[in-house]
Amino acid sequence: MAGTALGAVQMQESRQKKSYAGYKLIRTEPLNNMEAVETLMTLDGHNGVHFWTFPKQNLTTDILTSPGTEMHVRDLLNNLGLSHNVVIEDVDELLKTENPDLPEGSLDPKQGAGHRMTWQKYHRYADIVNWATFLRDRDPMVKVESIGKTHEKRDIIMLKISKSGGGSKPAIWIDGGMHAREWISPATVTYIANKLVTNNKRQYDDLLEMFDWYIVPVVNADGYEFTHTGDRFWRKTRSGTGNIYCKKGVDPNRNWDFKWGSSGSSKDPCSDIYAGPRAFSESETQSMSQKILQLRSQLKMYLTFHSYSQLWLIPYGYSKYEKPADYNELVRLASQGKAALERTYGTRYQMGTAPDLLYEAAGGSDDWAKGVAGIKYSYCLELRDTGRYGFALPASQIVPTGEETMNGVAALARSLATKLGLKAAPKTDLLEEY
Ligand code: ARG
Ligand code: ZN
Repeated sequence: MAGTALGAVQMQESRQKKSYAGYKLIRTEPLNNMEAVETLMTLDGHNGVHFWTFPKQNLTTDILTSPGTEMHVRDLLNNLGLSHNVVIEDVDELLKTENPDLPEGSLDPKQGAGHRMTWQKYHRYADIVNWATFLRDRDPMVKVESIGKTHEKRDIIMLKISKSGGGSKPAIWIDGGMHAREWISPATVTYIANKLVTNNKRQYDDLLEMFDWYIVPVVNADGYEFTHTGDRFWRKTRSGTGNIYCKKGVDPNRNWDFKWGSSGSSKDPCSDIYAGPRAFSESETQSMSQKILQLRSQLKMYLTFHSYSQLWLIPYGYSKYEKPADYNELVRLASQGKAALERTYGTRYQMGTAPDLLYEAAGGSDDWAKGVAGIKYSYCLELRDTGRYGFALPASQIVPTGEETMNGVAALARSLATKLGLKAAPKTDLLEEY
């Protein structure tokens, strides 16, 4: 039976989790010539070169090295005339502390046996799904739908939070977990959904009245599970590539059908930015895009959460020469959200297009949401931090990241409501939570 065979493969792969003993994160000086950028890029996924941030002119690049490849990578950087230093001495040490077990009895007793979800640690996908169905069972405002299956046949769940039930209100889409290793993304997205639903101090009444919310906490559930069981720093999906050396994975954020395969994506299956054999080759991006198209007349805003770098990205990401005609309008609206986020804890964000701040990258969901689905306000947020911990952000930062991001999203949604002429309840700012 095919199912059995698949199970066996998964078991074999997850038997041993990849060790990061002796791994270091190395940061280059800002890349001072285009040749260095291009040479570095071709190395991605080969000879032990794994990027945490991808090369871009005038920016530093973070590269993960193993004990066996460190010298080789250093030589290579030296040959390119790039000085570099170690920013994380012992990646393994960070992994030992990033996700501590919960102390006994720390689950909210009010939850009973309902679910195990918290925002004190990073949870497995099953905990997230159980939490979502718990909310659904308890609150008539919440629906949970599977919008499709991942490659390994997991359900990709979507929460619909709607007071009207009818589904004709203006709506906001939020997704997380497109890139598997960016654990703070599903943690933050579930935090936001939980705040909206529980709405403890009634401080989100207006947001629930004015909008329906569609929230997909973990788009790339296969990859996310694999970061728990197989390789903590896996980024891509888990589908087969047909390549004998690099057997698995397409970058889902290079796989969307808008300017697919042009700049900043790779045809090399070994690369972490492999765009896939064709646009929407991945069932995850395909399922999600179909759901968005189905809802497109309702959707007024698209938000996708990644990490790390603390950036508020505005389309387009595919080309440094193409800005949408309404770019300044998108900036103005986003500035409201960014200001509210920043004043929560003083976390600083930069705003601009991906090519301005990072690099060109075609095939991203944010570009597609705007360019194809026609959702005017489309943003991609790169959450905490700026590289002190990178992807290994300690679980103790989930709540503060959640709080500041919730404040940002709430302010953004309220500005959108004003734009759309929806009636917003007064005294919103005073009710920000700290
Ligand atoms: N770090 C994200 C990525 O590499 C940025 C995506 C920004 N959007 C875009 N369309 N390039 O996927
Ligand atoms: Zn990402």
